[in-house]
Amino acid sequence: MATPHIESKKEDIAKTVLMPGDPLRAKMIAEKYLENPVLVNSVRNILAYTGTYKGKRVTVFSSGMGNPSMGIYSYELFNEYDVDEIIRIGSCGAFREDLNLYEVLLVENSYSVSNYLQELTGEEDHVLPSNIELNKKLENAANRLRVNIHHGNVFCTDVFYNQVAIPNLRDNYNCYATEMETFALFSNARKLNKKASAILTVSDNLNTKEVTTSEERQNSFNKMVEIALESII
Ligand code: HPA
Repeated sequence: MATPHIESKKEDIAKTVLMPGDPLRAKMIAEKYLENPVLVNSVRNILAYTGTYKGKRVTVFSSGMGNPSMGIYSYELFNEYDVDEIIRIGSCGAFREDLNLYEVLLVENSYSVSNYLQELTGEEDHVLPSNIELNKKLENAANRLRVNIHHGNVFCTDVFYNQVAIPNLRDNYNCYATEMETFALFSNARKLNKKASAILTVSDNLNTKEVTTSEERQNSFNKMVEIALESII
């Protein structure tokens, strides 16, 4: 079986999927952390690998950037491949002073002005929660690894350079950071009755305009990946 966007056979995909945005990150994670990783998708260079981590079968599947791309892949994984749970592992731009570069944010709710959910289900909700059970496991894994994490809401935007909305989001919606994929993921999980969550590293700070170097970003990215992998075993 395959879909228009995924060439994998059903049995190629694990029930638990980690989703970074960048295809090369998926490759790096598979090569660094998985035992016996096998490439299971390369349609449009959206690389995906299945292997095991400490005996647990897992697929690392890239989402691409933005809600529409995340929307397509996570929908097909849940709906056609019977995936039970997806954890997005990505980056975010912080806009609270107490959320620093390289720190890790466990997403509680995704707030968006996107109509993705409305188009999908007719519901007009614009705030969607992470799965509580997955978040508990992520929090426990972070504790075991002794990594301090923040918990907070994100603003899921279609506009990377969106500065206009930030004061309102920070002050009225209690958003800590912005990113571009959680709302589609959480919408699909809601419609299809599946589990989804997201854990993010801060790659830039929209207050201070600091940005990370690629090497520093890689190190903090690894911390987040390790939390996600430890949470699923
Ligand atoms: N804006 C939107 N998405 C992001 C950002 C940002 O500044 N940083 C990482 N993902």
